[in-house]
Amino acid sequence: MSRLERYGHGGDRVTASELFGLDPDSFLDFSANIVPFGPPPSVKQALKGILETEGLPVITQYPDPRSRRLKALLAERHNLTPTRIAIGNGAAELIELILDVVRPSVVGIVYPAFSAYTSSAKKRDIEIVPLYGEEESHFLPPVERLCELVRKTDLVFLGYPNNPTGLCISFDELKQVAKEAIRCQTVLVVDEAFLDFIPDGERMSLIGQIESYPSVILLRSLTKFHALAGVRLGYAVASPKWVKRLEQRQVPWSVNAVAQVLGEAALQDQEYEQRVREWVQQARMSLRMQLSRIPGLKVYPSETNYLLVRLEREGKTAAWLQEQLGQQGILIRNCADYPGLDERYFRVAVRTDEDHERLVKVLKQCLDEDEEAASS
Ligand SMILES: Cc1ncc(COP(=O)(O)O)c(C=O)c1O
Repeated sequence: MSRLERYGHGGDRVTASELFGLDPDSFLDFSANIVPFGPPPSVKQALKGILETEGLPVITQYPDPRSRRLKALLAERHNLTPTRIAIGNGAAELIELILDVVRPSVVGIVYPAFSAYTSSAKKRDIEIVPLYGEEESHFLPPVERLCELVRKTDLVFLGYPNNPTGLCISFDELKQVAKEAIRCQTVLVVDEAFLDFIPDGERMSLIGQIESYPSVILLRSLTKFHALAGVRLGYAVASPKWVKRLEQRQVPWSVNAVAQVLGEAALQDQEYEQRVREWVQQARMSLRMQLSRIPGLKVYPSETNYLLVRLEREGKTAAWLQEQLGQQGILIRNCADYPGLDERYFRVAVRTDEDHERLVKVLKQCLDEDEEAASS
């Protein structure tokens, strides 16, 4: 495990501060994939409302143990009954709960993948069957191999879009895999934590047909697209039977009252959502173009708010680059700890034009200095 990802993830400013000796808030963070211009304005209003209410009831009283108002809003948004929605302390909590409830003997993971699928399975001593995507196909696995994985396992995690690649298999392929999951009674967990960033994401999701796919559990998150990572909020969409079991397994009041109120507020701001979707298309294209022009970097395509990059410099690793950038106050995600990738890969979030400019400038500087040192 590389040093900055000591606790398994990007976005760890405290570790960055310990390593690079800078103030945690001073880092320009490309290592966590969060909308860079903050949560919807409705969230700030709600936060103010919490503070201004006499007696601070949101803080002094217990939260609703089933987040019913938030659930009702989500149910309306997705045209579902609330019985199909479980709210979690981030999608990360739901990943853990799913394994506790489904109790699979063998889990299939499509690599490279979000690290929590592996760490949650390993914690429970569950056997993992890996499926590695090929670099030539940008790590997207062929559908036949996915169906095979479904046949060999009790539960499969599939990133849709995947982290760290930002790509999805096609919707037709997804449906094929989901049908195979029903046939084999394998649980298919489709992690849609980043699907909101894709303009027609909702139409590419099984969420509208979830009644026809009783073996499928969908995961969503409000931490990236709505910039509520510190608040911790996610949800699962599944059959009422699974939802009930997930909730029964959950720590009481796991979703705190502030998170519930802010989540409710975030979902009211449709204008923000439209703005983020439009922004991300343009900003990703621009960042990809700028990075691709830097000699020694191979930038992969992505449909979401981050880019996977391979450093192609003899003898140089992403850990080296992370160190160079970290010293200058910029954080990137070293992807060497993703099974299926190697020490050359790193991931950067899509941010503002100004942030991109700084990243590109410092990256060029590091790589130019390295080349000069090598040729002298
Ligand atoms: C693919 C994927 N799923 C789920 C999560 C966890 O999201 P949350 O912050 O809602 O726990 C992450 C976090 O980075 C992720 O990358």
